[in-house]
Amino acid sequence: MADTRPITDTLFDLRWQRSAPDMTAALARVYGENCDIDRLTARLRALLLEKWQARPRDLRALDLARDVMPDWFLSQQMVGYVFYIDRFAGRLKDVPKHIPYLQKLGVTYAHFMPCLKPRPGDSDGGYAVMDYGAINPALGTMADFRRVTKQMRAAGISTCIDMVLNHTAKEHEWAEKARAGDPHYRAFYRIFDDATLPRQYEQSLVEVFPNQAPGNFTFYPDMDKWVWTTFNEYQWDLNWENPEVFLAILAVILDLANNGAEVMRLDAVAFMWKRMGTNCQNLPEVHDLLQAIVQATRIAAPGVVHKAEAIVGPRDLVPYLGQGRHAGRVSQFAYHNNLMVQFWSSLAARDTRMMADVLARHFPENFRRAGWATYIRCHDDIGWAIDDGDAARFAPITGPGHRRFLADFYAGRFPGSFARGADFQVNEETGDKRTNGTFASLAGLEAALAAGDPGQVDLAVNRILMGHALIASFGGMPLIYMGDEIGLTNDHSYARDPDLAEDGRWMQRPAMDWVAATGGETAEGPAGWIWRGTRHILARRKALPQLAGSVPTRILQTGHPALFAVQRPGDDATLTAVFNFTEHRQAIDGINLGLQEGQWYIDALTKRPLLQGQDRLDLPPYGRVWLLPAT
Ligand code: GLC
Repeated sequence: MADTRPITDTLFDLRWQRSAPDMTAALARVYGENCDIDRLTARLRALLLEKWQARPRDLRALDLARDVMPDWFLSQQMVGYVFYIDRFAGRLKDVPKHIPYLQKLGVTYAHFMPCLKPRPGDSDGGYAVMDYGAINPALGTMADFRRVTKQMRAAGISTCIDMVLNHTAKEHEWAEKARAGDPHYRAFYRIFDDATLPRQYEQSLVEVFPNQAPGNFTFYPDMDKWVWTTFNEYQWDLNWENPEVFLAILAVILDLANNGAEVMRLDAVAFMWKRMGTNCQNLPEVHDLLQAIVQATRIAAPGVVHKAEAIVGPRDLVPYLGQGRHAGRVSQFAYHNNLMVQFWSSLAARDTRMMADVLARHFPENFRRAGWATYIRCHDDIGWAIDDGDAARFAPITGPGHRRFLADFYAGRFPGSFARGADFQVNEETGDKRTNGTFASLAGLEAALAAGDPGQVDLAVNRILMGHALIASFGGMPLIYMGDEIGLTNDHSYARDPDLAEDGRWMQRPAMDWVAATGGETAEGPAGWIWRGTRHILARRKALPQLAGSVPTRILQTGHPALFAVQRPGDDATLTAVFNFTEHRQAIDGINLGLQEGQWYIDALTKRPLLQGQDRLDLPPYGRVWLLPAT
């Protein structure tokens, strides 16, 4: 008899067959001992089927397109842009007005910074969500979100949304029920009768916000209980040991996907699992949970990919893109916070040797079906994640010494520093200091403008463009943080808003300057130069298949302290990107960059013939070239 089922039903079965084994294997590792995996799998299948059936037709078409082109997110066409809706456009419904601007810049992915309904008052920039089913009423509605994401998609732009899965606001319905004593929801959080266990855990935990939110636990007299609160007091950590939490959060993810989100930024994933005696970050269960989430998504919303936000040291970072049994099975993107830290470190030191060493030794050249999100700045502070062992290879440099140097340099305290940043969360106990500031201010533009020094302005502009050229060619998808394409400097106005004043990260979250942005096309001055330079870099990236995320990233040890170089061996030709991290001209023999004698090379950025392989490459201050053999 002919099979008359609609083809969409068959698709669900096929995707289940493809991805359920990886999903259930991961779940069995996490929950196998304490729960009936067959029952859990049956409930999951019902949930996934329900969400799939609710998935709008246009998104099902997107799913199909991405099943056919599974590497879509690794394409060199991908360019990310990150913004706060209010600071970029006002309200959600106004975002589409700026689609032409995003398209001009080349953007294909837009991350709407936290836009779900936050708790009232201070909400950690929206990372304390009280309702995952609603958009922040100050920004709009879920109907707006659906409409806007559709318009973005029609313009070739995928929308990324924050999915906070380590914690909810204490005002979330689940937390309020837990607080009122409902045992089902008490088990959603990590709640303790007395301080005994919290004290034991504290022995090996670190503090994320030692200044404004010391400790990792909060005592609530009305409950007579302690609650695990890694971040702020009002952010309650979810208890992922409870499979009900897994099911509830998965439902949230799939609903957001059905409303049009195409990328989930999985916030603070490193913290999801806790184990006594550890720092409760990056535990193996985190990777199993990620695998289960990603594989479940591949069944019910396969057009959607996940991006892990794990701001951790190099060894801990790599597994987020899939290692060993997780290869090709976990988050498709992860933030390369180490590249970001190394960029700033080399820039301050005028020395790229540690950067080249760390990036070559700790990171594989590529991943299976996954790639980096590369960035220079974001909304958060910079944690100086320089490993003691890595620094010691460059004795007399030491880890603590170099971290102190970087914090001092970027706070503008170090003699001769060009940066204007500020300390964040100074930890008296450990001596740890983090840094705030926009890309432009940290790169010297603010100080140069204040000094009215055109030479310094020029250097700052070139530092910024070198950074953009680095993230556009390193491998993965570059993320441009709103305003960094026009060199927005620090915003000090947050200090006047009582809900923001305590959190210095608002310094790097200025409102968009549309006058500067729209003038970018022709305006003379730093904003225009940076805008045109950035747009050009991104356009050139799109033309170069060597820059696709699937092409390996090979770090060259140039033997030249001022120059950082990376090779991208594409199928037809190898692209060699070279960056001068100093304010002086620098030269290097082409042979030391692996160039071929007798072969002509062009700079793929300017499209001009540059040199023959045996020649010396001469780079201006903060110069950058993308060398390609001339054909
Ligand atoms: C992530 C966010 C950060 C937030 C934290 C807690 O690291 O980027 O802004 O404070 O998670 O949700």
